[in-house]
Amino acid sequence: MKPTLSTFPRSRPRRLRQSDAIRRLVSQNTLTVNDLIWPIFVQEGEDQENPVASLPHVSRLTIDLAVQAAARARDLGIPAICVFPYVEPSLKTEDCRDAWNPDNLSNRAIRVIKTQIPDIAVMTDVALDPYNIFGHDGIVRDGIILNDETNDALAKMALAQADAGADILGPSDMMDGRIGAMRDALESAGHKDTMIMSYAAKYASAYYGPFRDAVGASGALTGDKKTYQMDPANSDEALRMIERDLKEGADMVMVKPGQPYLDICRRVKDTFGAPTFAYQVSGEYAMIEAAAANGWIDGEKAMLESLIAFKRAGCDGILTYFAPRVAEYLQQTR
Ligand code: PBG
Repeated sequence: MKPTLSTFPRSRPRRLRQSDAIRRLVSQNTLTVNDLIWPIFVQEGEDQENPVASLPHVSRLTIDLAVQAAARARDLGIPAICVFPYVEPSLKTEDCRDAWNPDNLSNRAIRVIKTQIPDIAVMTDVALDPYNIFGHDGIVRDGIILNDETNDALAKMALAQADAGADILGPSDMMDGRIGAMRDALESAGHKDTMIMSYAAKYASAYYGPFRDAVGASGALTGDKKTYQMDPANSDEALRMIERDLKEGADMVMVKPGQPYLDICRRVKDTFGAPTFAYQVSGEYAMIEAAAANGWIDGEKAMLESLIAFKRAGCDGILTYFAPRVAEYLQQTR
C-alpha cells in the first residue's frame, strides 16, 4: 500500500507528534502483558536461587521457588512461562535418556507448577542438549548428529512432558521431521490438545551464549550447531521451514533470535498469518543489561523499544527474560 501524502506545508507530519496525547492516539502498535512468555531456569534442591552471571537479574530456581515465580507471573497477568532445566552433569549421557524420564527435573517442575498454579500456561523445551554429554540438540554418533534417532527421542520426551501437564511444547532442536514425529506421538497417546510452538526458524547464532551458561551446556558443547540450525545469511529458507512445520502440525511458530531477525518475523507473519513468536534470546538481553549497567544506555527505555519492535514486525508474542520487569512497568503505567 502506498502512503498518501500531500506536500509541505499542507502536510506537516510533526503535527501528529506534538503531544503525548496525540502520539498515543495515533500510535500503531501496543505492547501488553498478553504478549509475554517468561523463560525460567530450574535446578535441583530446595529454597535456593543461583544467579546466572551472564544474565543479570536472572537466577536458576529450585522447584519451590519456580512455583513462586509462576505465581508472580500469574499475578502480573503474564499468560505463559517456559521452563528450562539445569541438568546435573552426572545425568548427561550419550543416549540422553534423562530427557524422557517422567520424573526428571523439568517434568517434576511442570507437574508441581501446573498443580499449584493451574491458570498459567506452561511451555517446555524439547531438545536433548541439556541431557547430552556432547551438548548437542541431537544424538551424536562418531561426531555426526543423527536426525531420525533424535526424532524418536524427541517424541518420547514430548510425551513425558505432555504427561506431566505441559500446555505448549517447544521443540528447539531443528531436526527434520520432528514436528510430525511429536504430533503423531501426541495424537496416538490421546494428547489432542497439547500445543506445539515450533522453533521453526532457528539460526546458528552467537547470541545463545548466556543461555548455555544458564543450563550448563557451555562446557559440554563440542563444535557448533551449524548442521542443524540455520545460516544467518538465509531468509527464504526460513519460510520453507515455517511452512513445513505448520504442515507437520505446529500450532504456533517461532523465529529465533529476535532482534537481528525482525525481517524474518515480518515475512513469516505476512506469508502465513499463523501465530508468530520471537525469542529475544539471552545474548540480546545480556547486551541491553550490560550497556545499561555501564550507564551507556537507558536500560528501561531500551527494554521497551526492543520489545515494541517485535510487535511492529508482526509478532503475536515474545519470549523474553524481561517479562516480569516489563509486566510490572506496564502495570504501573496503566
Ligand atoms: C537449545 C536452546 C537454546 C536456546 C533455547 N533452547 C540454545 C541453543 O540452541 O544452543 C537459546 C535461548 C537463549 O539464548 O535465550 N535447545
